Amino acid sequence: MRSPIPDFLDETLDRHRSDRSGENADYIPDLAAADPEKLGICISTLDGVKYTSGDAEYEFSIQSMSKPFIYGLALEQVGLPRVLEMVGVEPSGEKFNELSLDKKSGKPLNPMINAGAMAVHSLLGEPGASLAERTEIARAGLSKFAGRELTIDEHVAEGEWGAAYRNVAISNMLRSYDVFLDDPDEVVRGYISQCSVLVTAKDLAIMASTLAGGGVNPLSGEQVLSPRVNRQVLAVMMTCGMYDAAGDWMTEIGIPAKSGVSGGVFGVMPGQVGIATFSPRLDKHGTSVRGAKIFRDLSNRLSLHIMDAPEPARSIIRRDRRFVDSKGDMVRICSLQGLIQWSGSENVIRAMDDPSGSTNVFVLDLRRVNEINGIARRMLTETLSRLEDDGIRVVLMDPDNLMKCKGPDSDLPGVEIIDSLKTVKGLKRVRDDRRKEMAERTP
Ligand code: DON
Repeated sequence: MRSPIPDFLDETLDRHRSDRSGENADYIPDLAAADPEKLGICISTLDGVKYTSGDAEYEFSIQSMSKPFIYGLALEQVGLPRVLEMVGVEPSGEKFNELSLDKKSGKPLNPMINAGAMAVHSLLGEPGASLAERTEIARAGLSKFAGRELTIDEHVAEGEWGAAYRNVAISNMLRSYDVFLDDPDEVVRGYISQCSVLVTAKDLAIMASTLAGGGVNPLSGEQVLSPRVNRQVLAVMMTCGMYDAAGDWMTEIGIPAKSGVSGGVFGVMPGQVGIATFSPRLDKHGTSVRGAKIFRDLSNRLSLHIMDAPEPARSIIRRDRRFVDSKGDMVRICSLQGLIQWSGSENVIRAMDDPSGSTNVFVLDLRRVNEINGIARRMLTETLSRLEDDGIRVVLMDPDNLMKCKGPDSDLPGVEIIDSLKTVKGLKRVRDDRRKEMAERTP
């Protein structure tokens, strides 16, 4: 069978191909000279399958799309407190190259604007690392996200450096406020080299899916960022990644994303996919015009807005039945399904509470559960242990050991684990009227 996904991507690009609004970035010669007709897209799944259309293998410089990744690398290297000392996490509502510092703290507002990104770049390597060392750390680090060795386009870098008056001013401002103590020209040059790393839409989609997958590169399997750092990067990218258009982007499109003046945009749907587009003409915020329109389409047509509440989830409780066993004990069998997170566990806990006090045996049937997250497991473990304290015999049907109760490290050492309901002998279904009658008989 031919997958419909590439056809869908072809069709999506075709809808926007004729849109010639916007202009190439003009302050970096190679970007000004780039072919404005180029148009490409790639979607990468969390297991590294890439769906592409158009110029998905065409190389361009990563520009500001490097910022979230370098932020992640700096966080891994020096830790969150050190980075937060230097750069905040508040949206600036300003252009990406604004000469601005937070009025109270004197530090850059966030790591997505140039001021913050240069400060973050200065953290790479040992204190006082050379320009060459920092540049190599940035190149090698970005390569880990892409799952292949990326290269720097020196021509792009030299062209940007030739007219980097604004970035030089920002860097000198940072130095004068002691945000860093390095040579300001070296920091700008390193930052410009970081921006001149060449990528394709395919690379960017893999890089995005590394963030979507909690920091694990889907191609190499390498944990490039720890889950905590990955979360920090995504949270800052979501709130600050699109600069003075961040609010519009998140409300209308709702895919945490980062743009670059080369015309690339990448977006991350945590736990789902990484997406990247390339088209050089930009809007007034420095975001690709066609890129933004394609992201809007994908958000609407693939229901990818991160704030869309999921379809009313199927109840976690699949069945809740009562039986009487051969000894005349009331056996309650509560069968769960799906993915159980904190809110699902709350549902189950509420159902476990039986004010009639008629239950003698409580069977929690997890055969149709795919996953229980850490907090839900702790909540359920605590509740089952309280049922035991109340004198109720607790039985788990948990063939995949989702509750981690098998073995010596079990949090519920006394719990009985069974594979089949046949073990609970002689069950007879209790009808509602009989259940009521039994409840009434219970003091
Ligand atoms: O610092 C600059 O101006 C460029 N190297 C990168 C700017 C950029 O990509 C802004 N994003 N849309």
